Amino acid sequence: MKFGYFNDENKEYVITRPDTPYPWINYLGSQAYFSLLSNTAGGYSFYKDASKLRITRYRYNNIPHDVGGKYYYLFEDGEYWSPTWAPVKRELDKYECRHGLGYSKITGEYNDINTEILYFVPENANCEIHRLKIKNNSNRKRSLKLFSFIEFCLWNAFDDMTNFQRNFSTGEVEVEGATIYHKTEYRERRNHYAFFTVNSEIDGFDTDRESFMGLYNGFHEPAVVKNGQSSNSLANGWSPIASHSINMDLEAGEEKSFIFQLGFIENKKAEKWSAPGIINKTKAYQLMRDFDNDKKVDKAFRELKDSWESLLDNYQLKSGDEKLDRMVSIWNQYQCMVTYNLSRSASYFESGISRGMGFRDSNQDLIGIVHMIPERARQRILDLAATQFEDGSAYHQFEPLNKKGNDAIGSGFNDDPLWLILGTASYLKETGDFDFLNQKVPFNNGKEAVLFDHLKASFMYIVNNRGPHDLPLIGHADWNDCLNLSCFSDKPGESFQVLSNKEDSQAESVMIAGMFITFAPDFIEICRQRGEEELAREAQNYVEEMKEAIKKHGVDENWFLRAYDYYGKKVGSVENEEGQLYIEPQGFCIMGGIGLEDGLARTVLDSVKDRLDTDYGLVLVDPTYKSYHIELGEISSYPPGYKENGGIFCHNNPWIMIAETMIGRGDQAFEYYKKIAPAYLEEISEVHKTEPYVYAQMIAGRDAATHGEAKNSWLTGTAAWNFAAITQWILGIRADFNSLKIDPCIPKNWDGFEVKRVFRGDIFKIKVNNPEHVSKGVREVKVDGTRINGNLLPVYQDGREHDVEVIMG
Ligand code: BGC
Ligand code: NOJ
Repeated sequence: MKFGYFNDENKEYVITRPDTPYPWINYLGSQAYFSLLSNTAGGYSFYKDASKLRITRYRYNNIPHDVGGKYYYLFEDGEYWSPTWAPVKRELDKYECRHGLGYSKITGEYNDINTEILYFVPENANCEIHRLKIKNNSNRKRSLKLFSFIEFCLWNAFDDMTNFQRNFSTGEVEVEGATIYHKTEYRERRNHYAFFTVNSEIDGFDTDRESFMGLYNGFHEPAVVKNGQSSNSLANGWSPIASHSINMDLEAGEEKSFIFQLGFIENKKAEKWSAPGIINKTKAYQLMRDFDNDKKVDKAFRELKDSWESLLDNYQLKSGDEKLDRMVSIWNQYQCMVTYNLSRSASYFESGISRGMGFRDSNQDLIGIVHMIPERARQRILDLAATQFEDGSAYHQFEPLNKKGNDAIGSGFNDDPLWLILGTASYLKETGDFDFLNQKVPFNNGKEAVLFDHLKASFMYIVNNRGPHDLPLIGHADWNDCLNLSCFSDKPGESFQVLSNKEDSQAESVMIAGMFITFAPDFIEICRQRGEEELAREAQNYVEEMKEAIKKHGVDENWFLRAYDYYGKKVGSVENEEGQLYIEPQGFCIMGGIGLEDGLARTVLDSVKDRLDTDYGLVLVDPTYKSYHIELGEISSYPPGYKENGGIFCHNNPWIMIAETMIGRGDQAFEYYKKIAPAYLEEISEVHKTEPYVYAQMIAGRDAATHGEAKNSWLTGTAAWNFAAITQWILGIRADFNSLKIDPCIPKNWDGFEVKRVFRGDIFKIKVNNPEHVSKGVREVKVDGTRINGNLLPVYQDGREHDVEVIMG
């Protein structure tokens, strides 16, 4: 069942009923000011860091779900409604929510009063615009009252929801004309405030929540709205809000437009006040002037749309399959960008307070955005590298505001260092900017280094931390951070993510071994590009050693083992009763090249199909754990079929897709792709539940009662890896250090496809033909009519369009 439809031309998903199976959200803002907005206007805003600088309040896990947001109420003759359906939930005659790239437009019509609200964050501005257009579609004059509503958060989101004894006494506001300023804690150590304004005269306001709402009322029945009369309340402590009221007459057919603006201002310490106790509003006035009429808002909106057009233009696909085209050309890239911006901090599943930016997560996110914003990728790599320890290990998370490692989690996840090689190599391949490796970036202890030293430290960390089977020590955990082999936890509430009470653990990870041999060729090539031949040779020897170790100690009967536990016992083997086959090492060991020649890869991938495949994707492990295993940790804490315990982790399905392309099985690779790509799941939205335009981290696995139901949508490495799998390995258009490689592996029945790929300034218009209906193999490549040798497109860097004709066979 569908709850809307894709409008590809506008690059929108259009939701046609408000009661979606879960709130379907969008993200506004992509630089510093961010806002999460659901299809019924729920959500919240923050500046840079959802934990420390939260501008509006949101209550997770609330009843009913998703109340609290950017609300408008209309009042007429004692009756009132919300044009976004929530929170009043009066049934609307028409409802529509268009989630577009960086904006959402929600339309609601009731009794012939049509209201359309366009929500967006303009480029390079620390504010959000809500442009509300209201039209009288009836044939008589109407008298209406409009109420706005937002609720301020007292900045620190965790403190805001816990420290009531203090917070109920700190709230402060100022009101001037149509603008409500939120200045809690500005009198002391904060140098920032927020404001909510509208570009018109107002007839009243409220800034105290209880005066607006009534102590025992919900969002759906604010006292002020019910009475049709603002109370002009001033908040002193308790909960500051901002609400305007505007009375209006609308003639038959008349339309009015109001621009509401929620802004964030930072002042220098010396410039905080304009008079004792009165905040300096100079910057706020300027920000208001920037968007105070429709012309300016239209212009800002156009700029936002143009900016997305030009970002997405770097990779555009025409395949003849509209679902695939919209995933690749629009939504997957959009999700990659959002995920890159926010890491795993703020979504409807991530509260914005529990996690900073992950080291491994952020590196993986780069592979989804480096073709759009290489400059920002570059900066992120430096920020990440700066949190690396001299021995190559890394802080597991860093905090975006101060760019420091997060001490609460520390380090010890032994896969982390390797992802820096992946992230940096992707940047180098995209840009050819090898000078970057000489960029100075110190280690966490302040010791001077250049970026290349960090990659070397990453590589050597794995080499220097091997266990009894010459496989990498897992440390606290690897990519699967619920496989906690050095944490034996028997106390409720202990964090599996932090507790490491087996310091002497020699537990080893076959997955890290697979990652090592997968990323090592890039490291070696980077050494060569720098003329470090000896290091390259040395590194190659380590790779051979690792391959030997995998072959000798990392292979079970028909697949790769997962690990050796604290006791040296196999994990992920037929010898185990549960947890016999894990997905992760199967993907990585094959990507690293093991088994491609001797048939092992095929055997392994057949086992994966046989044991892990379901109607909704590949489960992470089989059989699932039915009871708690203290020696395995968090994975066995989940009920069977959920999360790491045999859920369908959409993040690692693409590793198998890529492995399938490496043995030439394009049909199988694409079948796996379609099983989890959200646009293909639109028709089963009532089962899948989360947004049909973005991936979720997890779909409940075969052993779950709710098999097929997704959770944790939006912020997940799934976005970047699926983008890599489809664009680089299935469509096969892949940046290499000195060229763009064309190496598709597609379903046999495809006649071909067309891709526009901007690479280092050149615009390649690539037409792939598949006359013999093969899956893999390139017979001929012509650039601008001239045949070239092989399948590597030269780098022209002339900024021109180049026609590329590829014949498979
Ligand atoms: C989740 C993992 C996540 C980890 C880190 C665990 O509870 O199951 O998916 O990576 O927390 O926060
Ligand atoms: C989500 C985390 O963000 C990521 O770092 C981890 O690799 C996966 N879960 C798997 O456990």
